[in-house]
Formats: sequence, structure tokens, C-alpha cells
Amino acid sequence: MEFLEIVQKRRSLRSYASTPVKPEKLNYVLECARLAPSWKNLQCWRFIIVKDLETRQALAETMTEANPGRKVLVQAPIAIVLCAVPSESEVWEDKDFMMLDAGLAMEHLVLAATEQGLGTCWEGWFHEDKAREALNIPEDVRVVAFTPLGYASEERRPRPRKSIDEIVFYEKWK
Ligand SMILES: Cc1cc2nc3c(=O)[nH]c(=O)nc-3n(C[C@H](O)[C@H](O)[C@H](O)COP(=O)(O)O)c2cc1C
Repeated sequence: MEFLEIVQKRRSLRSYASTPVKPEKLNYVLECARLAPSWKNLQCWRFIIVKDLETRQALAETMTEANPGRKVLVQAPIAIVLCAVPSESEVWEDKDFMMLDAGLAMEHLVLAATEQGLGTCWEGWFHEDKAREALNIPEDVRVVAFTPLGYASEERRPRPRKSIDEIVFYEKWK
């Protein structure tokens, strides 16, 4: 698949089949995450792969009730939890590169999953303390986001985006 096609195909998928994901595919997406760039190459990210249904249910319960993605961690066979170790990144002039670094690795994973025919959905709307408790994550580690990983059971239309003119300036701001 061409890169543009992968990017165009990716969606936040909120309905999954229970079909298992082959270990080779899981390893492939994790390898793509591992190769992401990061501030000073510190690689603050950690990924917890959750297959156990009860644990996925516990994770789903950490999500806000209004979250449209609440059911996905239970439906899909795998939940991936993105964590970040603050001592392995930095804040520079008020910019928290830890969150950026972790996000880059996760998006590598998400796009690799799309290429492999797998669905994902970024999930950030959850209670961090509860997620920490569910997975025995230490206090000093941030729980950044989750995603289900599995085969989509729905087609979704692309969501709208701002036009290039709205987001790109040449030479100077506006
Ligand atoms: C950092 C981040 C957190 C998100 N958290 C959630 C979430 O908690 N629940 C959810 O249903 N979607 C979540 N999303 C998905 C966005 O709603 C989605 O990316 C956006 O609406 C555009 O749709 P698309 O991904 O299908 O193109 C999140 C996306 C990002 C990047």
C-alpha cells in the first residue's frame, strides 16, 4: 500500500470482530512503534499488551461513560496501553516532549496496523489513576492512551479535516 493510501484508510474504529490477531502482526506494529523518533532519542514509551478479557473489561471501566470508544477494548481481542516514563523525556520551554514522543510511537503503531488491515482507535478519555491501578503501573509512569487492535466490523467514512489553506502558511504566519 502506498503511504498516502494508508493515511487515507486509517479511521478511529469503534466496532470490532473478535477474530484473533496473529502474533506476527502484533510484533510488526510494535516494531514500527519502536522505531519512532524521540527527544534526544530517549524513547520514553512503553506498551502494555492486554489480551486477558477481564483486564480489558477493567480498562474499559476506566473510560469516561460518555466516551464513544468505551466498548472497543472489550470487543477487539487486544488492547494496547501507551505509557510514558517522564525521566526519559524533557520539558523544554514549557513544551512537554514526553507526550509528543509517546504520541509519535503510537501513531507509527496505528499506521502500521492500518497497513496490516487492522483497526485501531486512539483512546485518551479515561481516568489515569484507575488505569494505573488496573495494570499495576507505577505512580511515576504516565498512562497516555489506549487503543484496541483487531479487525473492524464496520466501515467508517472519513471525518472532515481543515483545508490545506487553513493549516499551512508559507514563509510567515498568515
Ligand atoms: C490523542 C487522542 C485521543 C483520543 N481519544 C479518544 C477517545 O477517548 N475516545 C474516542 O472515541 N476517540 C478518541 N480519539 C479519536 C478522535 O476522536 C478521532 O481521531 C477524530 O474524531 C478524527 O476521526 P478519525 O480518527 O476517524 O479520522 C482520540 C484521538 C486522539 C488523537
